[in-house]
Amino acid sequence: MSTLLVVLLVILPFCTDCIVFPRQDEGPLIAVMDFKGSKMDIFDPSGGVNATVIEEINLEDGDRGACGIEFNYRGDVIYWTDLHAMKVYSLKADGIDQEQKIIFEGDLGSPQGLAYDWIHNNLYVSDLGLNKIMVINPETGAWKTILYVHDVIDLEVDPTTGWLYWISGWEDTAVLMKSTLDGQNQAVISSDVERPMSLSLDYDEQRLYWTETYPVNMIKSIRVDGEDPKIVHQADSRYQFSPMYITVTRDDIYWTQGSTHRVLGRSKNTDQQPTRYKNLETRGGRIILDKPFSGILAIDPRKQTESPSLCGDYNGGCSHFCLPTLIQSTPPYNCACPDGMNLMDDNSTCSTEVTKNPKSNWLDSFFS
Ligand SMILES: *[C@@H]1O[C@H](CO)[C@@H](O)[C@H](O)[C@H]1NC(C)=O
Ligand SMILES: *[C@@H]1O[C@H](CO)[C@@H](O)[C@H](O)[C@H]1NC(C)=O
Repeated sequence: MSTLLVVLLVILPFCTDCIVFPRQDEGPLIAVMDFKGSKMDIFDPSGGVNATVIEEINLEDGDRGACGIEFNYRGDVIYWTDLHAMKVYSLKADGIDQEQKIIFEGDLGSPQGLAYDWIHNNLYVSDLGLNKIMVINPETGAWKTILYVHDVIDLEVDPTTGWLYWISGWEDTAVLMKSTLDGQNQAVISSDVERPMSLSLDYDEQRLYWTETYPVNMIKSIRVDGEDPKIVHQADSRYQFSPMYITVTRDDIYWTQGSTHRVLGRSKNTDQQPTRYKNLETRGGRIILDKPFSGILAIDPRKQTESPSLCGDYNGGCSHFCLPTLIQSTPPYNCACPDGMNLMDDNSTCSTEVTKNPKSNWLDSFFS
């Protein structure tokens, strides 16, 4: 028996409020945020209708607005946003302790979407209140606004291809778009969007899935190149059946429903009846009626495959952010500075000094 195994056997029975990520050869775990309850429930969907919550994590800080959720497989970390507390948090998920930290606060209005670039270690946040997308360094808390997007609702990133995807707007203004991870090279993927709420990327098939809320009540998907749109799921048109937050991995999609405490799951390709994970709807034998689930996340190592950093071994020589751009560019990245700092003429170093370099101000010039 290995030392590690002995250590785990000794520790695990005493491990409360802590989680262990699945191994590469295991199926995904699903994490779902209990919005008003300030809790995160983790369950194993392989149990089907009988799946039970294997860990219920109390979120220590926050203001009953837990919403967006993401994971960092290599670092054993879960990130989430609280849109009332206007903060971004992290939770260590190494099976030993449950250290919860505030990694970003201030300069946020209503942070909802989260997406993690596991190759370049950048956390992207969409803020519906301030109409912008920001990138945060989860270790230092340094942050930069990369895009102003009116009514931005949710986002996803794919550091293996260098693209950032987001949904924004409502009815006539609703749209699904992309840009490179530095916020440049914007393009529309689809305007066939009505009342979007949540976006999830299927890395294997390079398709985006999103929810259309009441009264549309659909889950739609489209290839990242804008081809082959599909209606994946059409729910009953009543409010309580509205799909809200979605996550996709391997062959399955999982989503939360209406303002209820309900999670459903289904194969993404066959039109079967969804599985309703009923054991998540009760606590201590009592049915939970008034606590909607919000963000949902499939924690699956297969979603975060390792590939070489576009910034090389030395952060592209950048003093602060190294943000990938079109992968065919040389170099395939741009150095970028936290808000309040400027890029110097070497295109690498950030300083609070003023510079003549026009590149440092491309975002400001774009919107002026
Ligand atoms: C769920 O549990 C019930 C009652 O124990 C059992 O009859 C049923 O076969 C189980 N279903 C699955 C999919 O395991
Ligand atoms: C910095 O970027 C600008 C604009 O792309 C370019 O003209 C200039 O040559 C670059 N400077 C250096 C030192 O690479």
